[in-house]
Amino acid sequence: MRLVSVDKLEPGMVASENIYTIDDRLVLPKGTVLDDKDISRIKAYSLYNIFVEDQKKEAPEKPKSASGATPSYAERVKSSEEFIRFKENLEEYADKLEESFKMIVNDTSVLDVDKLTEPVYHLFVEAGGTAGIFDMLHNLRDNSDAVYVHSLNVALISNTLATWMRLPEDKIQVATAAGLLHDIGKMYVPEEILNKRKELTEYEQRAMREHVTKGYQLVKNLEIDDHIKKTILMHHELRDGSGYPLHLKNKQIDEISSIVTVANIYDDMTSKRNYREGMCPFDVIAQFEEEGLYKFEPNAIMTFLTNIVNTFIANRVLLSNGKTGDIVFINPEHLSRPMVKCGDKFVDLAAEKKLSIVAIV
Ligand SMILES: [Fe+2]
Repeated sequence: MRLVSVDKLEPGMVASENIYTIDDRLVLPKGTVLDDKDISRIKAYSLYNIFVEDQKKEAPEKPKSASGATPSYAERVKSSEEFIRFKENLEEYADKLEESFKMIVNDTSVLDVDKLTEPVYHLFVEAGGTAGIFDMLHNLRDNSDAVYVHSLNVALISNTLATWMRLPEDKIQVATAAGLLHDIGKMYVPEEILNKRKELTEYEQRAMREHVTKGYQLVKNLEIDDHIKKTILMHHELRDGSGYPLHLKNKQIDEISSIVTVANIYDDMTSKRNYREGMCPFDVIAQFEEEGLYKFEPNAIMTFLTNIVNTFIANRVLLSNGKTGDIVFINPEHLSRPMVKCGDKFVDLAAEKKLSIVAIV
């Protein structure tokens, strides 16, 4: 084992201890064979030295893209075995979740929270833990399954956000279960509304919004954690009172529900739906930066934003001028406007206000 300055890190070096940020958050686990993205991530957290094994291992493979150019980070994730397995498992678990939700609503099965959430923890293992989960989710955005894949995504994001917020383990588990079950009331919304390929009419929107009260009716007398019941009822409430169904404000909204709300909106806006494309995550981050503190619980939204942007370090992005570049540095003052390296030129989006990120490629 030896201590190496981060400037001297090379792909293939193996972390011999867990790597933590200065404020004690896990960046990468012990045993990670470093690739370019891991090294960029370590540098982004301003770490100076890390312990590595004496022997290097083969760096994770980087396939060439069809054009022969160096593949982008997203292309490398999508062609990895882990990603292919994660996608297959996610789809399989989504089918099982559909079956379970139907049986609960038809009263042919009891709601066993622990059993239902088990697959979520398997998906974390597949993704290589919290650090890998967004690499997987960000590359799955073309899945338009409205309820079941979304429920799994929200459970994964709620778990990650609760972990980033350093909540105790029991609350992290409740946030995971609440994320999974938040939309169970959609089982009562007619399929033609759920699957409609156009924007909903006012009448249909009202029927859709009833999923929160109908879901709550289903679970209110069950012996499950109170935070889960409240999340099912309150996950569309917003701090400024502009949400539904009760127009609750500030502390009237359950703390776990506030976490699921952020996870839900982020997943919903970045996912493709029947009647619209998914938004670019940086547009969503910009929108959150603008209105976040009025609408969402401040600790939840700030923790989410500062951490989510770091998951994009080393990703290749398309800029509004048609050029592509890799994200090399996150600006803490302008989270949605990082520094991008295009060829050998550095573009500071915080200064170049006319430019913006339009897609991750
Ligand atoms: Fe919902």
